[in-house]
Amino acid sequence: DFMTAEPFRIKMVERVKKTTKAERQQWLKEAGYNAFKIKAENVYIDCLTDSGTSAMSSEQWSALMLGDESYAGSKSFFKLEKSVQDVFGMPYLQPTHQGRAADYIMAKLYAEEGKYAIGNMHFDTFRGNAEILGALAVDYVVDAGKDTASPAQPFKGNIDLGKMQQLIDENGAEQISVVIITITCNNNGGQPVSMQNIREVSELAKQYDIPVVIDAARLAENAYFIKTREEGYQDKSIKEITREMFSYCETATMSSKKDGMVNIGGLFVTRNKDILEKAQQLAIVHEGFITYGGLAGRDLEALAVGLQEGCDEQYLEYRIKQAEYLGDRLLEKGVPIIEPTGGHGVYVDGRRFFPHIPQCEFPSQRLVVALYEEAGVRAVEIGACAFGSKDPETGEDIFPDIETMRIAISRRVYTNSHMDVIANALGEIYKNREQYKGMKLVYEGSVTSLRHFTAGFELL
Ligand code: F0G
Repeated sequence: DFMTAEPFRIKMVERVKKTTKAERQQWLKEAGYNAFKIKAENVYIDCLTDSGTSAMSSEQWSALMLGDESYAGSKSFFKLEKSVQDVFGMPYLQPTHQGRAADYIMAKLYAEEGKYAIGNMHFDTFRGNAEILGALAVDYVVDAGKDTASPAQPFKGNIDLGKMQQLIDENGAEQISVVIITITCNNNGGQPVSMQNIREVSELAKQYDIPVVIDAARLAENAYFIKTREEGYQDKSIKEITREMFSYCETATMSSKKDGMVNIGGLFVTRNKDILEKAQQLAIVHEGFITYGGLAGRDLEALAVGLQEGCDEQYLEYRIKQAEYLGDRLLEKGVPIIEPTGGHGVYVDGRRFFPHIPQCEFPSQRLVVALYEEAGVRAVEIGACAFGSKDPETGEDIFPDIETMRIAISRRVYTNSHMDVIANALGEIYKNREQYKGMKLVYEGSVTSLRHFTAGFELL
């Protein structure tokens, strides 16, 4: 097969700026060594997130012009409805302005004060919503999911059924208000969840009448991993797989900014009419009328098309292989990453990269700073700063199991030459790793779980 290049060609380009190391050092200082505070125009390759950063296709740009901006009953809503039903196999949807708004509605309907919400690894925005409501969000990803060096494990996003059963046995099923399966599991490397696990989690939950929700931001990437890694799915289409995944849940939320291939938007999708009606009430107050949910008609059009493109198998093959390409280049240079490489980027293991920098001195954040300094590449820390917490009684720092720098890859945006820049720069930093020292946190906001967005650091 000679046709191994990108399944698209470039019709419009956006200039990016090359800068000098001295400039970048100055900008880092001004930003308090926090990547979120660096101006985007001073970034050469932006891998902060894969969220809302996709390049839209010519079909999506032309669909924008068809946007029906009617307040109620917009034609664009019905196009989106058809596309969502096709991909999810579920009847009802409520659009939202982005994923966390759908999380909020879902948390209001499914998380209860003092009760558990079981997940593989809850994404921050659901966790925040749940905690505000007084719910107890627990992460029950399988142990392999916390081991960065287990390349032979194909589904490191799976939920540990044993832990779930134990929580039910010890507390009684009525103390668990919901199970949320995040596909793919963002917090430990964009790792997929197998169909078997989704099915078994759902069967266990059903025995005890616990509703199952899927956080579906990266639904197509998860489906592609099932197709290529799980016995029995090789001959199924991506949409047959997505529909089967959602057949095991009552409700799904989605940040459309990922596999929806759009720059803004979210979805709340359900098969339960009662839940839909409640979601609509919350949407009217917080988002907008039920047929637009905080989005313009043109946004609904772009999403209707984008969801279909996100499920295209040729696109997905390119997508997953690009992340794998970067992962393989890094492994060749000895750079320790979460293996196998996940769906939406590569996660470098900060502790194995800088073994001499203790977790309390933010090794992954130090790597984020080094990578920007050397090559103008912006990644993000998912480690001691972002996921650290404080003991509610003693106020002492608690450090997370996962200590990484995430290099998130935007969809259809960068070429493999850009991936080479990242790999080469990290290879150099790795060679000189012993010269780097840790960092000190000198400013944090009042909400610990959100401190990474505004934190200030000093170099040690
Ligand atoms: N769920 C998952 C699994 C996510 O990764 C995100 C966002 C959300 C929900 C919230 O969606 O941003 O549209 O409000 N993740 C981004 C990231 C921000 O960088 O991983 P949103």
